[in-house]
Amino acid sequence: MVGQSELAFRDLCRAKGACDLCYTPMFIADAFVSDAGYRAKVWRTHAKDRPLIVQFCGTRADTLIRAGKMVQDQCDGIDLNLGCPQKVAERGRYGAFQMDESNWPRLSSLVSAISRALSVPVSVKVRVFESLDRTKRYCRMLERSGASMIAVHPRTRTQREEVLADWSKIRELKSSLQIPVIANGDCWHAEDVWLCLLQTGADAVMSAQGLLHNPALFRPLAEAQRRGDLPLRPEDDTSSKIPPLSATLSSHLRRRREIGVYFRSVSLAAAVKRRSSCSTFALPTRVLPTGSFVSTPSDLRERFDLAVAYLDCCVKCPPCHPSVVRRHLYFMLFNPFQANLDLFDALCCASEVADWRDLIARLRERAELDGPHPAAKGKLLSKKRTFRRDGTLAPPPWPVGGGGFHVSGGRKSDAEKRKKEKRKRKKRKVNETTKPKPRRGGRPPLPYPESSSQFTPSVGLF
Ligand SMILES: Cc1cc2nc3c(=O)[nH]c(=O)nc-3n(C[C@H](O)[C@H](O)[C@H](O)COP(=O)(O)O)c2cc1C
Repeated sequence: MVGQSELAFRDLCRAKGACDLCYTPMFIADAFVSDAGYRAKVWRTHAKDRPLIVQFCGTRADTLIRAGKMVQDQCDGIDLNLGCPQKVAERGRYGAFQMDESNWPRLSSLVSAISRALSVPVSVKVRVFESLDRTKRYCRMLERSGASMIAVHPRTRTQREEVLADWSKIRELKSSLQIPVIANGDCWHAEDVWLCLLQTGADAVMSAQGLLHNPALFRPLAEAQRRGDLPLRPEDDTSSKIPPLSATLSSHLRRRREIGVYFRSVSLAAAVKRRSSCSTFALPTRVLPTGSFVSTPSDLRERFDLAVAYLDCCVKCPPCHPSVVRRHLYFMLFNPFQANLDLFDALCCASEVADWRDLIARLRERAELDGPHPAAKGKLLSKKRTFRRDGTLAPPPWPVGGGGFHVSGGRKSDAEKRKKEKRKRKKRKVNETTKPKPRRGGRPPLPYPESSSQFTPSVGLF
């Protein structure tokens, strides 16, 4: 994740979250080879940061090969990002803007050239087309060209998060490919991860936003697996359809590239019973998250412990850019911050580990009194803070220019600038007419009921 899966966060996820494989943020290959400043800012690792995949985006084989060669001794694989749908990718014609069918011959030679030139396996991360048939042909083309593994995010280039990721497309792709398939999209809770493995038959699950909110996302599965505790009802037991991951993936990669084990067998893990009072395992209904990421007081305590552990990782692996740290703390302590606006303000201003520690301690004190779903209190001091459409606070902003994490893939044309201005004006107009009326204190209503007794969790509690 650009600006978010930096070394300290990877360390945290490995130590606390039972992540079997980490990806770096996407690096822009052109900038990586030509700009030592950019490289130093984004690329940091150490001996324990393994297994690791370094992700690049780019359109030229020579640049991607040079970039890959710079890091191949310190990682286990190179990933080519063919899924980034952002405007910046459109300008640079990389990411998901390489997936048009007319570009497949170029893409095929690109993947084939880099997979031949590098000493580690080359994987790809893709989005899907509307048409399943075209998606299958696309992925098979990438497989034939030399991709060793494929991560699939089952949204199209134009779909955003309002649409649920279509896992059924991953199932179809899995059955038509020989290489390991990683499913990605809408795994917000451990139960989603398990459900995703069951429904897609994928070899592994990749999480982005779920992991930002809960870096220990995968741990319940790893623990349940270790205990041999598979709380599935017989009719739900589709584990026979899921290949044992360690066997398929590592032997496949070893065959292709003599590489070691990538993951433990996450696919054999089970969802955990999170509430002792309920005995039967129930598969969760898939819904988009509603703005609540903690369910119980112990969830909440765990998030605070994770936030402190993250700061410890930052101390061990400096320098961490303040805006990166702020965003991680915001995501991990999402619910407490939504209810303590003055401390969110303080978060956006703090730049030192000692200040963040102090902030976490203050927030924890309040949250322990209030429980997981407190009423909003405190006032935002800064008018600059923004709210998202669901009424929750937007993450702390990046510094102007993206702080060096978001390197532009090209200059904006005048037409693009005009289009952006028009979009902004339109958005402002819509907001004026549809935005929920702020209460005193300048904040729209919370997306969940304010009394914890009324709260009904939406995803997978059993
Ligand atoms: C902050 C952020 C940064 C991201 N950066 C990358 C990236 O560098 N490379 C990439 O392939 N996908 C990136 N993504 C997309 C995610 O990998 C993923 O495909 C998408 O968020 C859907 O998965 P999720 O539902 O688990 O979040 C990013 C997503 C977020 C939220």
